[in-house]
Amino acid sequence: MIDSAIPEHLRCTRTRPANTPADFQPPYPSYSVRFPERASELVMAIIGAQYKTASDADGAARLTLSAFLTAPTSPPSFFEWASVTDNKGFYNISTLAYWPSKAAYEAWAEQSGFREWWQGLKPEGCRHGWFLEVFFPTMDRLETLFNTRETPEGCAHMREDMSRAVQEHGYWGSMRDRLPASQTDALTGAKATAGDFNGPQTTLTCSSEDVIVGRVSIPGKKNLAVIRSGQDWLDTSPEERKLYLETMHPVLTKGMDFLRDHGDEVGCYSCRFMDVVDPATAKAHKDRTFGLAYFDDLASLERWCKEHPTHLAIFGGFHQYARKLQNNVTLRVFHEVMVLEPAQQLFEYVACHSGTGMLVKY
Ligand code: HEM
Repeated sequence: MIDSAIPEHLRCTRTRPANTPADFQPPYPSYSVRFPERASELVMAIIGAQYKTASDADGAARLTLSAFLTAPTSPPSFFEWASVTDNKGFYNISTLAYWPSKAAYEAWAEQSGFREWWQGLKPEGCRHGWFLEVFFPTMDRLETLFNTRETPEGCAHMREDMSRAVQEHGYWGSMRDRLPASQTDALTGAKATAGDFNGPQTTLTCSSEDVIVGRVSIPGKKNLAVIRSGQDWLDTSPEERKLYLETMHPVLTKGMDFLRDHGDEVGCYSCRFMDVVDPATAKAHKDRTFGLAYFDDLASLERWCKEHPTHLAIFGGFHQYARKLQNNVTLRVFHEVMVLEPAQQLFEYVACHSGTGMLVKY
């Protein structure tokens, strides 16, 4: 029996119609995470360090953050590490950590000593940059989609269960239909304007290419849309792995490069195409990646997916891929999308370059 991506306790009478075509039958199964009914929100934090080059990363930042993350009081329910070299050549390594509530995150930040340490960071004394991006979505502002029920990713590590196969996927506009808040709210954002994409105001050092800014907090934006879209080809057969690496990975990289370098053309503030890092070796896995992107409006994200040649190539490539494998796909894909009120976002940067995250666009 088909399920709705919106759990029963968050369903209400729609004042905004769903986009589902009449008599729509999803062409393949996909699933959404089910959280305990009592959960009213969750927290996702991206906490990281930024180095001029990968060889400058000596592991000290990871050790410092790990000590906080494994503190006994209210540690995250789940965390992992990921890295990316950005378009200025800087190497960024960050944790992605999840808590089941804002209260749990606050208790951790306070009692692990993280908050005191973070507030005491002096940009002038930092050998490298630090960044803190935290999202506090209420459950009505979060949706997830997985092509498998078995392997959790991201916030699914806090799941109570996975849904049965859901109705709202496989057509454009289904992401919006999976968001409980969209039943009654257009979730319109504040469109990014040219001024948003100007450089920062306070500089710490400035070389010919890089402007390193001091300590900057960026206010949240109305209905900012955040997507983490992951790919895991760890368990693929040699044949599927080859096909993924030769046909899907290159188009995905192209799409992520476009959002990173030309995101302002489509309302994307920031895009990082990250490799999940093996906790034992501190090296990138190279078989698990995700795109982490921030858009000014859910509609901008929808438009990029539906109209831009880069996601159309990813999307079209995936269907050819599935056909070649006679639908025997072992590649795991998932995404989590949040549409956030300003008060549900926190952005702070210390001694980072001016193109980092939301920094360049304030
Ligand atoms: C939707 C493929 C990467 C953003 C979809 C769908 C497919 C797909 C098949 C339709 C899903 C459904 O409703 O059943 C892929 C593949 C990817 C990939 C194979 C990588 C290998 C990404 C990335 C992003 C992204 C990196 C953004 C950072 C989206 C969004 C939707 C979507 C927002 C929902 C569109 C809507 O319902 O209006 N993608 N995608 N995708 N994709 Fe991708």
